[in-house]
Formats: sequence, C-alpha cells, structure tokens
Amino acid sequence: LTRERFNVLVADQMSEEGLRPLLNSETVHVTKATLENAGDLSIYDALIIRSATTVTKKVLEQMTRLKIVARAGVGIDNVDLNAATKHGVVVINAPDGNTISTAEHTFAMISSLVRKIPQANASVKLGEWDRKAYQGVELFGKTLGIVGFGRIGTQLAQRAKAFEMNVLVYDPFLTTTRAEKLGIDQGDLEEVLQQSDIITVHTPLTKETKGLLNIDSIPLTKPGVYLINCARGGIIDEDALKHFLNNGHVAGAALDVFSEEPATDRALVDHPHVIATPHIAASTKEAQLNVAAQVSEEVLQFLNGEPARNS
Ligand code: MLT
Repeated sequence: LTRERFNVLVADQMSEEGLRPLLNSETVHVTKATLENAGDLSIYDALIIRSATTVTKKVLEQMTRLKIVARAGVGIDNVDLNAATKHGVVVINAPDGNTISTAEHTFAMISSLVRKIPQANASVKLGEWDRKAYQGVELFGKTLGIVGFGRIGTQLAQRAKAFEMNVLVYDPFLTTTRAEKLGIDQGDLEEVLQQSDIITVHTPLTKETKGLLNIDSIPLTKPGVYLINCARGGIIDEDALKHFLNNGHVAGAALDVFSEEPATDRALVDHPHVIATPHIAASTKEAQLNVAAQVSEEVLQFLNGEPARNS
C-alpha cells in the first residue's frame, strides 16, 4: 500500500538547502510556484511563504485542503490570521532564524546613515571628490533609542554597546532586572523619543504600532534626530517623515521597509537624506538557510502528526 503524499506549495523564493528536509521526504511532494501559477489551489496541504505572498481570505477559501501556512521569517502581517483561524489553518513562523542578520543590517544602516556613506559612494563614482559635503557624526557617546526590545532589539543593543553608545529602550515587556543585566536604560516612549540621537523601531506592525512615529510624536524628538526602520513599513508614518525631513527636524532616515513594497514613494526614496535598501535585512545566506530549514522541519513534523512549535 502506498501512502498518499502531502502536497506542499512553496510560493516564494526560498533557500534550496533549507528546504531539503521536505524535498527528501517520502511523505511530501513539493511544488514551487506562486499562488497565481500553482494551478488548482485546493490540492495543497501546506503553504510556505516569505513576504512576497499575501495570504488573503480569498486564498484561504480556495485552499480547501490547507492545514498549515508557514512563514519563513518573522512577520506574519501578510497572512489574514482571522481567516486562517476560521478555516482551522495553523500559522507558524521562524521567529529567530534571521535575528542576527537583521540586527547587523540595522547597524550597517545606522553607520551608513550618520557617515553618509551611500551618498559619498555615489558621488565618488560620478568622479567627484567632495570631502566637505560628506562630514558625518560619531556614534561614540550617542544615545540609541530602541523601540521594541525583542530578539532583534536585544542583538542590536549589544552591537551598539560595543561602539560605546548609550542604549535607551522602550518596551512595555522589558523587566528592570533584564535591562540592568544588559547594561541598558529604559524609559517610556516619550522619554525615548526625547532623549535619543538615533531612534530605531523593532516592533511588529499592528494596529498599535502603525504610525507610532507620526506628525504628533516626531516633534518630541531632538532636532537633528536620525530615524531607522528595518522592521515594517508604516511604523514610521511616511508622510510625517517626509515633512520633518523637509523642514530639517529629522537629519536623516534609513529605511529597509516601506508601507508599499516595492517602494513607490519617489519623494521619500529620492530624498537626499534618506538611504534605502529593498527589504533585505534578512537576506543573508545564513538567515535564509535558517528560516527555510526551520519551517521545513516544522511543516514536515506537523504533516506527520506532531504538534507545531511556533504557532
Ligand atoms: C521577516 O519578517 O522575517 C522579514 O521581513 C524578512 C523577510 O520578509 O524575508
């Protein structure tokens, strides 16, 4: 008797090596295709995605056999969780596979921003040699405000400490004992906004965090503040950001994420004090292997009847 195979749809670009547990399994058949090109969606038992695929109510209605959606990454804002619950579909993620990569990218963005490295690089490549235009500031002794202190925020704080920065954190779930142990200060959101030279957000995108930095809260920050978003587009309101970049209150912004991706707001992207990357904080060999391997193993276990860990 041959056992029926489970159909797994891998809808986004994923590390081949990470998918190996699934590809090698005799109980699973893997299809790599976008939702649009995957044919009859009602045959799939599992769906694996990154951020490019959006799992809407309509998709879930069409995927009548679906038991599990696995996000090879952290943010599950591209999955309609209410609809998934309604259809009895389990949603899992890979919560820690890309922590280091994202913290490293954020730190690289901070250093690049305050030293104007992308702008200076572009200028040198144009044949210019303008040393005056690209004067920056040191990170040493500056206060880095971290809004949201989960895995990524914690790793970032350690890197900032190595550069002898002061770290000031806002996170309602951070205990005093843990803050003391890590040698960081904590404050409420207002204090972090008022006292930081550089502010970086590391929260998920939720109703509460959408527009957390906006037309009313950005004025609380120091004139000449630098703002960083390598978390989710929209946590810093983009219209407010443009406004305060234009009037000089915000000295510069480093953005890896945008409320619409690919980024369409040319006025924001083209702003001379904005540096931008195309949502690549988690795009390293290591992180992509980690997250793909984590979700592959979990999906396999789940299909074979074991409970999901990261749901
Ligand atoms: C995540 O949520 O893990 C990141 O945004 C990375 C990604 O989308 O690949």
